[in-house]
Amino acid sequence: MNLGQCHNFSDFRTLAKKRLPGPIFHYIDGAADDEVTYKRNSQSFNDVDLVPNVLAGVEEVDMSTEIMGQELSMPFYCAPTALQRLFHHEGERAVAKAASSAGTMFGVSSLATVTVEDIAKISTGPKMFQFYFHKDRGLNDALLERAKAAKFNVLALTVDTITGGNRERDLRTGFTSPPKLTLDSILSFAFHPMWAWNFFTKEKFDMPHLSGHVTEGTNLAVSVGQYFSTMLDQSMNWSDAEKLCQQWNGQFALKGIMSVEDAKRAVDIGCTGIMVSNHGGRQLDGSRAPFDQLAEICDAVGDKIDVVCEGGIQRGTHVLKALSVGAKCCSIGRYYLYALAAAGQAGVERALNQLAVEVERDMKLMGVTRVDQLSRSNIRTR
Ligand code: LAC
Repeated sequence: MNLGQCHNFSDFRTLAKKRLPGPIFHYIDGAADDEVTYKRNSQSFNDVDLVPNVLAGVEEVDMSTEIMGQELSMPFYCAPTALQRLFHHEGERAVAKAASSAGTMFGVSSLATVTVEDIAKISTGPKMFQFYFHKDRGLNDALLERAKAAKFNVLALTVDTITGGNRERDLRTGFTSPPKLTLDSILSFAFHPMWAWNFFTKEKFDMPHLSGHVTEGTNLAVSVGQYFSTMLDQSMNWSDAEKLCQQWNGQFALKGIMSVEDAKRAVDIGCTGIMVSNHGGRQLDGSRAPFDQLAEICDAVGDKIDVVCEGGIQRGTHVLKALSVGAKCCSIGRYYLYALAAAGQAGVERALNQLAVEVERDMKLMGVTRVDQLSRSNIRTR
């Protein structure tokens, strides 16, 4: 299989599986406990059906949307995800280039492997910085200042990782950052010589936003679950979020909101957006799927704040269903990460294009020419 044969999410996943050493593939692919929430995130879209209108004159389709003050050419963007140079040596640079040339936003994680300064040189398009609230206040201040100085447009505070999720695939494979050299991992590298060659001969692995402050994750191998549980501040509360929002003094979102109460509080503290998300099912298994929870959140705050549906998006129709319920935009994670692992920048470009082509085709088939024409009258729950 090669990139030209990747036509959908599952094809990119298959190619990523082929290219990556097992522990790294399973880190992306895995989720918490029994992975029930992870599966439900995508399945939830099947409980709602689209009701198309016809004869609408759809030769010109405008897929653009505005989210937290950013103009996007398509109603989805690349969610911030960690450790991208582990998946492909081009890492965050590939995602930044592909997303910018597609005209959409991308997120850079606190746990990124390329600096915000380098990313800012690559992309003048809309950029989100994802913030982890660490115990180390010096690190928090440095993250904020760097993202601000690099002119990132949106700050997204992740609020669903107060402790590490139980990712049993990582426990089984022994996945850590940086990858630990054990007999098993060396074997899995040997079976993926191209990946190993790139990883060991190109730019040295680092998480440059953290490495001046903490050793965990760069010099000291830890699992992501351990990192969350030991490095992040479990006392983080609404007042901390509000202070961060004020300190940032710009477009600010909470990533990982699932309840109406929290969505309302996000509005109260001055957020301009929320990501309805359960972290791709990687934290609390048994948590409701974002799409299942979207209607009540949009009803409560959709007119006051931009709502993003994050999790489980594998198809253009998933995006259309989320927008019909009331989301302003969707974000994708594993979809573009599999594509990154499969083929670097060319992979991410193909994935974004693929999903955009689906959204455009599906809008035509739905009889709409702009995303704001989608509404609940276009959908029915089974
Ligand atoms: C994860 C974090 C790093 O889910 O976002 O692995």
